Amino acid sequence: MKLKVVFTKSFKILKEFKFFILISIFLSFFSAIFGGLSIGLLLPIIDQNPEFVINQLGLDFLNSFLNSVNVTSQIELVRLFAVLIIVMTVFETLFSVLSSFIAIDISSKIIYKLQTKLVEKYYDLDQIKRNNYESGYVFSLISENSRQIGNLFSQVLSSFKNIFKVIVYGYVLIKVSLLMTISAFFLLVILSIIIKAFVGKKLKKQSEITLKSIENLNSSLIENLNNSKYIKGTGRSVDFQNRLKTDIGEFIENYIKRSKITAISAPIFNTINAVSIALLIILGTLFINVSIDQWLPLMVPFIIIIFRLVGPINSLNSLRVKLEGVLPDFSRIISFVEDASQNSTSNGSKIFDSLNKRIVFENVDFKFSKSRKFQIKNLNLDIEKFNHIALIGPSGGGKSTIVDLLMKTYDVQNGNILVDEININDLNTPTWQQKIAFVNQEPTIFNTSIRNNLLWFSPESNDTQIIQSLKDAQIYDFISSLDGGLEHVFNDNGTGLSGGQKQRIAVARALLINADLIIFDEATSQIDITTESEIYDTLLSLKNKVTVLVVAHRLTAIKNIDKIAIIEDGQLSDFGTIQELLDYENFYSDSLKKIK
Ligand SMILES: Nc1ncnc2c1ncn2[C@@H]1O[C@H](COP(=O)(O)OP(=O)(O)OP(=O)(O)O)[C@@H](O)[C@H]1O
Ligand SMILES: [Mg+2]
Repeated sequence: MKLKVVFTKSFKILKEFKFFILISIFLSFFSAIFGGLSIGLLLPIIDQNPEFVINQLGLDFLNSFLNSVNVTSQIELVRLFAVLIIVMTVFETLFSVLSSFIAIDISSKIIYKLQTKLVEKYYDLDQIKRNNYESGYVFSLISENSRQIGNLFSQVLSSFKNIFKVIVYGYVLIKVSLLMTISAFFLLVILSIIIKAFVGKKLKKQSEITLKSIENLNSSLIENLNNSKYIKGTGRSVDFQNRLKTDIGEFIENYIKRSKITAISAPIFNTINAVSIALLIILGTLFINVSIDQWLPLMVPFIIIIFRLVGPINSLNSLRVKLEGVLPDFSRIISFVEDASQNSTSNGSKIFDSLNKRIVFENVDFKFSKSRKFQIKNLNLDIEKFNHIALIGPSGGGKSTIVDLLMKTYDVQNGNILVDEININDLNTPTWQQKIAFVNQEPTIFNTSIRNNLLWFSPESNDTQIIQSLKDAQIYDFISSLDGGLEHVFNDNGTGLSGGQKQRIAVARALLINADLIIFDEATSQIDITTESEIYDTLLSLKNKVTVLVVAHRLTAIKNIDKIAIIEDGQLSDFGTIQELLDYENFYSDSLKKIK
């Protein structure tokens, strides 16, 4: 990732906060000025002849101040300046704290912005691209990388304080001796820049490796947490624990390496600083050609200022190193956002209201990736309004993919899907999707009350409607026997619910949204025959009220179906009523005869 891109993007993010950034910089400026003054005020204390030093430093106004207050003795002068130093330091600190507060505020807002933006982009990402990202990667982007960047911005803002300090103190130094200042500059800055460049490169590389191991660990953690029951049940918990421990170990190892590189830079700089100061004193004896009783009052503040400058210069340098460390976070976020922004899934403008006549697949082709063969080939299918249609066929034949195309999870590559003669791509996607209810094998149960599990998909519904749909889905008796009834919460995608119970809650959700099209993908496969037939009875009661598509393996599920579509190898091999399909030999002839 080019540094320039990072800068342009950062600038774009910061633009929104320009007012507060300006205030923060303004406060930093004053904090530095008061800092400089508090140092300047040391000089008259050190020197027997303050006017000379004050003039030398260009702080002429101090002289007029001295003349205006009536100080008679040297001791009184010292006391006066000591009090002034306190006042100046209080102001310096006050302004510094205020500007830090603003910086913290801005950086938190930036983190919020980045995290919400990433969530938005995550939902924008079309499913084919989504398939390329591991959950751990996305998790790290939102939780870790965005936080790193936000914190960096706060450090950049705080660094203005240091920049101003360097300028103000630098000014005082130049007034003492230009040659000395240039020497100090070379010793302190150039040397550390050279070393930082070396440390910075190493740190950047290590940061990237560390980020990878965080992602890896996140992925493994998510996987283990989601599947611990299965892992334990298969007697493999030790193996999985060990794999997880290896990931944790790898992360810690990389984390230590990264921290050590960061940690090593401070002592290196302290050493350089100490050596530089000693060298400066020697240089001072060469460059400043005044008698020793004038040399001391000049050199002492010079060294004091240099000591006070060490901190700001070091943190400016550390910032450079940190910037290198955060670059990988930046490039990850930028490329993810760019990837999600070039969205290829179509979204039209026509609001879908309700299905009036039919849904037609017209010579539809679809494949998941460019290199692979078409998973759906020249598919033609006519789903009439209120028809109940079954998709059956061998595993891997493409039934679920057809459902995905219908639900606009993916776009077709050739051909059209027409909804009442309108191309599905011209429909506003959410308005179409909200009229489709999807019930699959392992329905999602959210970590919230049963009520919310339904309400979140039909925000306008009231309790009476919710209860009615639960009754129609044959699950209300069970729900009302639970602690809290509708308020009951099942954690972790419905732990504590049987597969069939989850499916019936999903059926209730489907009934509640008053869908135009209900899709069951193997939905009743885990339900006992009695409950299954009860649910299909419910569906039967929806005859002439809603269009239904049933993907089924169990042929018992298709007893009351109007038409059957046999999908083999991505194509429609047969289509008709059970009676029609019985009239000639086909893939399901034998089984169909049995259910007849
Ligand atoms: N995300 C994906 N990326 C690439 N290929 C996929 C993806 N999902 C499914 N496929 C492939 O598409 C083909 C059709 O799969 P699909 O899930 O539609 O079959 P299905 O008829 O629903 O099977 P089953 O009855 O077992 O559920 C399969 O060859 C499968 O490997
Ligand atoms: Mg399937």
